[in-house]
Amino acid sequence: MSDFFTTIRRRHSVRHYQADMPVEAEKLHAILESAISAPSAGDLQAYQIGVIEDAAHRAALAQITEQQFISEAPVCLAFCTDAEHSALTFGDRGRDLYALQDATIAATYAQLAAAAAGLASAWVGYFDDVEVTRLLDLPPNLRAVALLTVGYPAELPEATTRRRLDDIIFHP
Ligand SMILES: Cc1cc2nc3c(=O)[nH]c(=O)nc-3n(C[C@H](O)[C@H](O)[C@H](O)COP(=O)(O)O)c2cc1C
Repeated sequence: MSDFFTTIRRRHSVRHYQADMPVEAEKLHAILESAISAPSAGDLQAYQIGVIEDAAHRAALAQITEQQFISEAPVCLAFCTDAEHSALTFGDRGRDLYALQDATIAATYAQLAAAAAGLASAWVGYFDDVEVTRLLDLPPNLRAVALLTVGYPAELPEATTRRRLDDIIFHP
């Protein structure tokens, strides 16, 4: 396990995976436990996480999202909001904002945990809601908002840049 700041520095999106190297069950468990330890509004955890390991499902997801690497990565996690669960406590703010924040913070924790465990990942947000809902057979209360591929890398990730801190922070 690597130090937190090293983990952050080393995490990069990876879009080619070693398809024949499975993610160890203990590592997957640690990633999922990390995800659910993320903060959430009112501690409601208004989300569900689909764990997609089946090759046919991953291939179908790759096809409908047009993101081929989903079929290469041995694991794909689907972070789904349960907006009405949050709305029961927080009304519109829970429905429109907190559920999405809960689910995506959990996905962020999972992504960092994967990096700390020596695995690679990529966040996939570009997909058709209707097709993904149908493929994952989601009940009406769930909406997939982020997919996360997880596996051992088969490429050196591309270097990415960031906007300068000065361009991002402001002091009201
Ligand atoms: C909300 C969101 C949606 C994203 N959607 C996709 C996607 O559909 N496909 C993809 O390959 N990467 C996707 N990414 C990954 C970004 O392209 C990537 O994080 C960004 O280019 C920075 O690179 P890095 O992750 O290597 O630092 C997404 C990331 C986020 C946070």
